[in-house]
Amino acid sequence: MLVDMNGKDLICTQEISVKEIKAILKLASEMKSDRYGEKYNSLLKDKTFLMFFYNPSLRTRISFEAAATELGGHAQFLEPAAMRLRKTKGGIEVQAGETIEDVAKVLDRYGCGIGIRILETAVENYGEGDALLREFAKYMKIPIINMADDKYHPCQGLADVMGMREHKGNLNGKTILMTWAHGSLARSYCSVHENLLITSRLGMNVRLAYPKGYDLPEEEIAKVKANCEVNDRKFEIYHNPDEAYTKEVEFVYSRNWFGPDFYEIGKQSEIERASKMTNWICTEERMKRTNEGLFTHPMPVDRGKEVTDEVASGPRSIIIDIAENRLHIQKAIMAMIIAGLKVEI
Ligand code: CP
Repeated sequence: MLVDMNGKDLICTQEISVKEIKAILKLASEMKSDRYGEKYNSLLKDKTFLMFFYNPSLRTRISFEAAATELGGHAQFLEPAAMRLRKTKGGIEVQAGETIEDVAKVLDRYGCGIGIRILETAVENYGEGDALLREFAKYMKIPIINMADDKYHPCQGLADVMGMREHKGNLNGKTILMTWAHGSLARSYCSVHENLLITSRLGMNVRLAYPKGYDLPEEEIAKVKANCEVNDRKFEIYHNPDEAYTKEVEFVYSRNWFGPDFYEIGKQSEIERASKMTNWICTEERMKRTNEGLFTHPMPVDRGKEVTDEVASGPRSIIIDIAENRLHIQKAIMAMIIAGLKVEI
């Protein structure tokens, strides 16, 4: 079957088909094994991919820039702070400037595609970042790629499963433990949501562990449960980190996320609350209780809090491979949705 994603937006992997996910993964693997080959190195020739960052980034910015270069094109970095965007609060203008509609329609004439990142402290309420991406998409004909908003991080989720498959083969029927961890970064949900959605979509059992009070948004958990049901897989919740690490677990993803009241209590209060729960950390002793479990994380890792150095730098850590895969996944996405490359699966 030939998979055609030409012109599509990518905001969350839950919004594309499993066939499309498999096509992106297949092409990314091919591109990884033929990184500078002539087959792919002019797919974006003479074209400019635009990147809009409301928040900092290491991996996403550099891997998208490298991806555009390796496809024969160019990636242009845009910082909203350096532009003149109109800002409103509760419907009232607090900063005069251009509307999203005008900015989007103009950029649409310059670029071949656009990536946007907006999350955590760049928004005032949960969901505003994702809504902004969809607002841009409404006015643009060129494809939009979500480079992490406050709900989803599709490129990260795809890179996660690509790395997991490289190390343990077919993921169908295997179990991932997604566990909350203490830390001082007060992280949003995008990478966690995306991993839960895509692993459950690909037939994995999902085990979620977090302290009481750190529930993830109900609408996303409902989707993960539905994905597990469709595949006849288990979805479990634990509130004790020691009980969550068992022989069924093949992957451990230990990551901080903020509580549901984050936007009311603020970053400092969240950090103070989370920092006290030091028992929520991935350790070598806990990893030994799993089925030769591999440690995964989207990075940046909060070492000594989310995970010990011993695990993060140890032989069972696949975090650097996954970070590398961001490059190959993004090349595959751009090749398919911008250059119109079709993939046989
Ligand atoms: N994982 C990830 O998106 O990393 P950056 O925030 O450094 O881009």
